[in-house]
Amino acid sequence: MKTKLRLGIIGAGSVVREIYQYLYFRSSFTPLLEVRAVADPNEQYRNWFGDLAGLPAERRFTDYREMLAKIALDAVQINTPDHLHCAPTVAALNAGLDVVVPKPTAATLKDAHAMIQAAKKTGRYLGVDFHKREDPRIKEAEARFQSGRYGKFQAAVFYMVDKLSVADPNHTPRFFASPDFAEKNTPVSFLTVHMADALMKIISLVPVQVRAVGYSQKLPSLRPIAVRGYDLVDTEMLFDTGAVAHIITGWALPNSAWATTVQSGRLICSDGLIDLALDMPGLREIHADDLFEVNPLFRNFEKDRSVTGYGISSPGRLYQQILAQHNGQMTAADREVLMTPMALGFHTALALEAAEKSLAEGRRLDTGATLGTTVDCRQLVVKELGAAAAKDYGYA
Ligand SMILES: NC(=O)c1ccc[n+]([C@@H]2O[C@H](COP(=O)([O-])OP(=O)(O)OC[C@H]3O[C@@H](n4cnc5c(N)ncnc54)[C@H](O)[C@@H]3O)[C@@H](O)[C@H]2O)c1
Repeated sequence: MKTKLRLGIIGAGSVVREIYQYLYFRSSFTPLLEVRAVADPNEQYRNWFGDLAGLPAERRFTDYREMLAKIALDAVQINTPDHLHCAPTVAALNAGLDVVVPKPTAATLKDAHAMIQAAKKTGRYLGVDFHKREDPRIKEAEARFQSGRYGKFQAAVFYMVDKLSVADPNHTPRFFASPDFAEKNTPVSFLTVHMADALMKIISLVPVQVRAVGYSQKLPSLRPIAVRGYDLVDTEMLFDTGAVAHIITGWALPNSAWATTVQSGRLICSDGLIDLALDMPGLREIHADDLFEVNPLFRNFEKDRSVTGYGISSPGRLYQQILAQHNGQMTAADREVLMTPMALGFHTALALEAAEKSLAEGRRLDTGATLGTTVDCRQLVVKELGAAAAKDYGYA
């Protein structure tokens, strides 16, 4: 029985520094993983990670294709920017490896579809790390909602708003913000996808229409580096039942905010309401530095240096599933559940592409607001993937 996966890392930037290094080297999942190689064209990140993992020079690659060809691996984790998830995923699956990617599955429907098709064709495993799926509050809400306790879902408001320091390239130390971070990523691609996925996991409905409104009023005023990008985006998703959700995300909150991410969600149903209170996990710190809502549920640095929390257990669970598949412990029925379009993030990629299309085709006002157009999800899926594939994804 296999007890350890030989893992290759493709892309070792911010998300590896902030989250995955703890999964690989300081978590209860560490014994399951043997990090054997890294590929990243960025020399600084490649060597930072290579040193951390104790990798010799010949297992540090600039090109992932060379890594796939030369190193014996069971799985790869692909931590490249969203628009670069697809090519390495398809190459790795075709090479017989299992694949884990951070959310979102991909930046476009076409890419998400190609990745899903490759996983189906090869029979290998594809897992997407949407860590909110492992947040105990989301899991409890999902179970309670799906038991019928609250009746029919009618409307929801979710919000996820970061401190400005997350996106501001003028802030030291830089958090996620490279100088062009907020131009390359949008609140939709970085944040809305988390909430859209969590909401759809709870209600198990697929969107039929998306419209976004964006505000670019703070980021352009930053100095000395001004940023062309949205401070805040409200994405309205209409579901096939007529239920509606507003997912409001951004990254221009003053840095005095009580949490790096101020976030929550409410779902209102015919027979009840769920209030997720996501940024009130219970540990409030008053300290000379700040007043802070610590979220140990997400990432908990424990006294023995181990790191726990759903930020770690979410990808960790994906590796447990890979091992289960290797060891013949995954039934066809289990695999089917893991391979549904919703589980593989297809509808989240759809919400992402539709919201960005809505904004791109929208009308920009002098105030800095952009009023997006209404995007019909079925039409978008048919246009991008054709009618037959659209049918497979539930858009007949
Ligand atoms: N789980 C989360 O909450 C979370 C948080 C942040 C980012 N993310 C996701 O993680 C992914 C990476 O984001 P990031 O913030 O770390 O980006 P980043 O730009 O900091 O890092 C990306 C890395 O990929 C490398 N890269 C680019 N092309 C490559 C290639 N062809 N082969 C190998 N490496 C390549 C880059 O050199 C860079 O080191 C994105 O999909 C992002 O949405 C998830």
